[in-house]
Amino acid sequence: MIEVNLNPVSMIAGTGSYTPGKILTNADLEKMVDTSDEWIRTRTGIRERAIVENGTVTSDLCKEAALKALEEAKVLPKNLDAIIVATITGDVRFPATACYVQEKIGAVNAVAFDLSAACSGFIYALAIADNMLKAPENKNILIIGTEILSSITNWKDRNTAILFGDGAGACTIKKSDGKSGILGTYIQSDGRLSKLLTMQAGGTKYPDPKDITDEKLKYISMEGREVFKHAVKKMVDAAKLIIREVGLKNSDIKLLIPHQANIRIIEAVAKKIKIPMEKVFVNVDKYGNTSAASIPIALDEARKEGKINKEDICLMVVFGGGFTWGSAVVRF
Ligand code: COA
Repeated sequence: MIEVNLNPVSMIAGTGSYTPGKILTNADLEKMVDTSDEWIRTRTGIRERAIVENGTVTSDLCKEAALKALEEAKVLPKNLDAIIVATITGDVRFPATACYVQEKIGAVNAVAFDLSAACSGFIYALAIADNMLKAPENKNILIIGTEILSSITNWKDRNTAILFGDGAGACTIKKSDGKSGILGTYIQSDGRLSKLLTMQAGGTKYPDPKDITDEKLKYISMEGREVFKHAVKKMVDAAKLIIREVGLKNSDIKLLIPHQANIRIIEAVAKKIKIPMEKVFVNVDKYGNTSAASIPIALDEARKEGKINKEDICLMVVFGGGFTWGSAVVRF
């Protein structure tokens, strides 16, 4: 699904992010599984990741990121029309984590719901929020990408334990001021490839955890090499498509923010779409893959580091379980 806005109706007016204080380094992982700092760095680019302490729930991370994104946009929680939380690791089965966020920040007038699109969730939320703001009555929407992936990681599996981290990133989406705006979004899925990246427990397939005899089903499972190939191809396609449809040249793009899964995926995508690495934001070394939180954390850090300024055009591109993928072009 593609959406091109010749006259953008909405803009990103504020960003915020939060990652937990507990850091798990590659050296820590060396003590947990048969791996090495050198292997992890050269194969993934990851040095460390932030992990929650026991007792912290996903909506706690969301609250921290959300309050910063609202403050920057000068939007009071009571003036939010909607809260969309993209996550595959919500607080509980139901209600939606977005409802807990609504309560925690006091957004009493908002509709609150979750969205499940794995790592692509934030770009899906951006596309949906942009469309919701096409109704004149809706003015302010909070979108959050967040995960506590440490809660579904098999810490005995070296194929996956090295990759993931926890965090939250939020954006306040407002009506466009005529200059800034969401210029285009593209989101797509292919359920035929779902088994390559999945977690089987926790749904109706295995309603009773005691029925799960195969330990692997209780955690994220992934065919790493296959996922890698599809991720590069789909991210390249999604980036090229949105650049073409919005009518941009590569030189118009100030910063590329790709999903932070693996530095080798990021470099391959940048090379294939001919964007130099100087124009690519990378923080996978600090956080690993935080799934739906990856792009909004990177976006917030890029803005706070002065890498995106007023009227700069930013391209975001993502890939995740489902498979799901997507891209967005935003003028700040
Ligand atoms: N430490 C040391 N060795 C490891 C290891 C680890 N943590 N994990 C795997 N290995 C071993 C494998 O067992 C294999 O050994 P073998 O050759 O004796 O069989 C070897 O390293 C190579 O494994 P392979 O899976 O081919 O490595 P890779 O170069 O494909 O890297 C990933 C593995 C997971 C880092 C990579 O495939 C990847 O990043 N895939 C995409 C993951 C992703 O982004 N998922 C989320 C998408 S949103």
